[in-house]
Amino acid sequence: MALFKAHYNLEKNSIALVIGIILAASVGGIVEIAPLFTIDETVETLPDMRVYTPLELAGRNIYIREGCYACHSQMIRTLRDEVERYGPYSLAAESQYDHPMLWGSKRTGPDIARLGGKYSDDWHVAHLINPRAVVPTSIMPAYPWLATAPLAVDDLGAHLAALRTLGVPYTDEMIANAPRDAEAQANPDSAGAAGVTERYGEATTLRRFSGTPRLTEMDAVVAYLQVLGQLTQAPYAPDAMLEQP
Ligand code: HEC
Repeated sequence: MALFKAHYNLEKNSIALVIGIILAASVGGIVEIAPLFTIDETVETLPDMRVYTPLELAGRNIYIREGCYACHSQMIRTLRDEVERYGPYSLAAESQYDHPMLWGSKRTGPDIARLGGKYSDDWHVAHLINPRAVVPTSIMPAYPWLATAPLAVDDLGAHLAALRTLGVPYTDEMIANAPRDAEAQANPDSAGAAGVTERYGEATTLRRFSGTPRLTEMDAVVAYLQVLGQLTQAPYAPDAMLEQP
């Protein structure tokens, strides 16, 4: 056959063979790399997307520390069964301030990208102290120490500053007030509460997440869980809010 003959001749010319190999191998590379040239059009701009508050960020850090991501993904794929089970599929822009991102792929437990508002704070507190108390057949580990460990807030400003170097738009004011804002978000009657709303927007939830007056790691984790999927409302009304390229 002519094709085999051409290949046979190619194999006898080492330079041509090398060029041929490079061309063939680069097809795979181009298929993967070319779409990235349009990345600016691919990542949507969401008008109401906000950053994590210091308290939510502290919760996210604890979530990473405790290894929750090993069992829970945070990325709903565009497949019908996922959308029917979990809600609108994840948009790229929703995790633009997540460093590191926590999409994951291992689901020992359910995906929690749309968790915010699904359960009450009390449910989360009971569930984290002992998952079997609310879901009798649960195999999730218990995290009772979260309810007693005081939340360390002193280094939160440094966390915000570090994220700013990665492009998260935290202001100087947010960084300077981080420890105070963390306390105030879990203490809505305190003097600092107005500052949280002013800096992070009206949509920010201020309440005693753990139900107790002391600021514990539980407050931070529950604040974080309740904001998952709530940093923007765009996924729930895509046509109205997405800026189409
Ligand atoms: C060993 C795997 C494992 C780890 C680690 C784990 N979970 Fe789970 N999680 C599960 C399983 C399984 C379920 C489903 C049963 C249940 O609701 O308890 C679940 C359920 C949940 C739910 C309810 C989700 C829903 O939509 O009903 C939340 C919230 C949750 N986990 C949070 C956490 C947090 C926060 C951590 C870390 C502090 C964590 N999980 C660590 C396995 C795990």
